[in-house]
Amino acid sequence: MIQELPGLPEGETGRQPPEGSEPAAALELMGIAKRFGRTEVLRDATLTVRRGERLAVIGPNGAGKTSLFDIVSGRLAPSAGQVRLDGQRIDGLPPHAVQRRGLGRSHQVSQLFARLTVAEHLRCALLPASGKAGSFWRRLATMRSLQREVHLWLERLGLLARADVPAAALSYAEQRALEIGLAAAGGSPVLLLDEPTAGMSRSETQRCVALIRSVCEGRTLLVVEHDMAVVFELADRIAVLADGRFIAVDTPERVRADARVQQAYLGTAMQHA
Ligand SMILES: Nc1ncnc2c1ncn2[C@@H]1O[C@H](COP(=O)(O)OP(=O)(O)OP(=O)(O)O)[C@@H](O)[C@H]1O
Ligand SMILES: [Mg+2]
Repeated sequence: MIQELPGLPEGETGRQPPEGSEPAAALELMGIAKRFGRTEVLRDATLTVRRGERLAVIGPNGAGKTSLFDIVSGRLAPSAGQVRLDGQRIDGLPPHAVQRRGLGRSHQVSQLFARLTVAEHLRCALLPASGKAGSFWRRLATMRSLQREVHLWLERLGLLARADVPAAALSYAEQRALEIGLAAAGGSPVLLLDEPTAGMSRSETQRCVALIRSVCEGRTLLVVEHDMAVVFELADRIAVLADGRFIAVDTPERVRADARVQQAYLGTAMQHA
C-alpha cells in the first residue's frame, strides 16, 4: 500500500515504473549531500543498487558511510538529493515509514535492549508482518504463527538455546547475529548492514558471513564493511565512497585494480585481500 509522503513535491508520491518497462533498481541514491554545520560530509553521492545484488560500500573512516545509511533509512534528512526505493521517493520519510516500505537495517553501534530477551526482540521485529488482530480465534492463530516464526529465526541465527537470555548477556558475536536477524526478520526486500562483522574473530566472521548469505538470499543487500576478505567474499559489486561521492562502483576485481581507489583508500589492504 502506498503511504503518504510528507514533505515531498507534488507528483512525486507513489511513482511506479511504466508498465512493461524493466523493473526499477531496488535503491537509487541521487546526488546526496549532507552537511553537519560547516562540515560537508557528503557532496554528490550517486549510486544505483540493482535488485537482488550484494553491494559493499567501502571508504576511509569518517567518509560518511554511516551518515549515508542514516539518510537512506530515514534517520537523517539529506541536505540535498533524493533517495528512491523501488522507484519511489523515500527521502523525508521517518524511519518506521521507510521500514514499512521494505528497507531493513542493522547499525554499526548496537541497538539492542539490554533486558529484552532474544525471543522478545524477534517477536517485536516479526509482529508488524504477522497481520492485524481480529477475533479471539484469529488472534490465537496469529500468535501461534508468530511463535513458529520466532522459532525459525532462532534456529536460523543459531540462538535457539539462547531464546530466553537477555540481550545484555549474549556474547558480542551473538548480539551481532541477533541484530542481523532483526533487520531481516520483518521480510524487507532491501537490507542495509553497517559493519556487521566489526570486532569479530576470524571464525566468528566466517559464521557471520554465512548467516548474511543465508538471510540475504533473494534480497538486495547494501553492506558497509572494512574487512576486505569479507567484502570480496560477499560482494557482487563494490562502491567506494571518498571525498563525499562514489569514486568507483564496479566488480571487486575491477575495483581492486582501480588506481584512483588505491590512491584514495585501499593501498596494500586491498592487494592482500
Ligand atoms: N550527527 C552528527 N553531527 C555532526 N557530525 C557528524 C554527525 N554524524 C557524523 N558526523 C561526522 O560526519 C563524518 C562522517 O561520519 P560517518 O559516521 O558517517 O563516517 P563513516 O564512513 O561511517 O566512518 P566509520 O568508517 O568510522 O564508521 C565524521 O567526520 C563524523 O564525525
Ligand atoms: Mg560508520
